Formats: sequence, C-alpha cells, structure tokens
Amino acid sequence: MKPYEVLLNDNRHWAARKLAEDPTFFERLLHVQTPEFLWIGCSDSRVPPDQITQTEPGEIFIHRNVANLVVNTDVNLMSVVDYAVNHLKIKHVVVCGHYGCGGIKAAMSNEDFNQVLNMWLRNIKDIYRIHRKELESIKDEEKRVNRMVELNVKEQVFNLAKTALIQRAWSSEQRPDLHGWVYDLHDGLIKPIVEMKAGTDIDPLYEFEDL
Ligand code: CO
Repeated sequence: MKPYEVLLNDNRHWAARKLAEDPTFFERLLHVQTPEFLWIGCSDSRVPPDQITQTEPGEIFIHRNVANLVVNTDVNLMSVVDYAVNHLKIKHVVVCGHYGCGGIKAAMSNEDFNQVLNMWLRNIKDIYRIHRKELESIKDEEKRVNRMVELNVKEQVFNLAKTALIQRAWSSEQRPDLHGWVYDLHDGLIKPIVEMKAGTDIDPLYEFEDL
C-alpha cells in the first residue's frame, strides 16, 4: 500500500467506526454547522486542534498558518474570521501557538528563507523588535524562543482586536471573547496566556468610531 493509500484506508475505518458508535453521526452534521469556537493555530502537524481539545467534527472552525499569525491584509485569514464571526456567530476566538515553533525560531534567526517565507516571517520580526528588551534579557535560547512564542500569541490576539470586524461585533453583540493560548509539545498541555473579553479597552489609536 502506498503511503497516501493508508490515509484513504484509515478514513474508511474511521467512517465505519463513527457510524457504528452513532448511526446518526453524519446525518446530524449534514445540514448544520454551529461551532462555538474559531481556532487560529500553527500549521505544525504536531498540533492538531481537534485532537488536543478532544472536539468532534462541527465543534471548531479552524484556520492554520505558519506561526498562527493574524495579518490584517491576509484575505484568507480575514475571510475566515468574517465568516466565523458574522455568519457562524462564534462566541470565542482562540489563537493557539506552541512552544518550540519553527516559524518563530526562523524569524529570530538571520537566515534568508527566500522571497515568500521572508515576507511572512517579517511580521514576526516586528514583534521581536517591540519586545527586544525583555527577550534579550533572557540568556537561555530555548527560553527566549518560548517567551517569544507567548508574546507572538499576545500580539496576534491584539491584532484581532484592532480590526473593525471584531470591534463591530463587540459593540453590537458583545462577542466574541478572544483567547491566546500556547500548547506544549512536551506534555500535550495548553497554557492560557491572555484573554480579551468582548468590549475590552484597547489602545485608542486602534479604535474605530461610529461602528
Ligand atoms: Co509552529
């Protein structure tokens, strides 16, 4: 069996098992999608959102990219946020990073990763610059990377709050709450880093009037 055939084979086993456990499983999910959570996570294959949170199909709406960034000119991400907030009416957005993130490490190095990756990683370098003093006081390299992972998650949560899209939902429907979490590859546990409840005050510079 070729490696990709193993995936198809496992899929057939999974579908049969789901049906055996619950004969209405697929039927129920067919017509409605009402997830409560939007998850913005890293593309890293070791951080599968549904497995680490024990959620079933239909429970979380997911967007993943390198180093779980919220870039407000990213049409892909912003479309996902728009759909999740304005159509699915989700109540919580989780930005989840992970310690030892390769994207964060790459951005902290001086290596040239060529055009497209350099463009993406530049967003992370800007965060390092803002927090340079704190980060450079940490002598241990692994600890410095891990603190940067936490600071990145915080900044991405702030990036969500800076959008008119989130501010409009906050003022009209008092949702969603924003959460910044970090997953630890060593023990499989998630550590909450930051929480911004709907309506939290933000730097006035980023506040939109007449929403
Ligand atoms: Co990563």
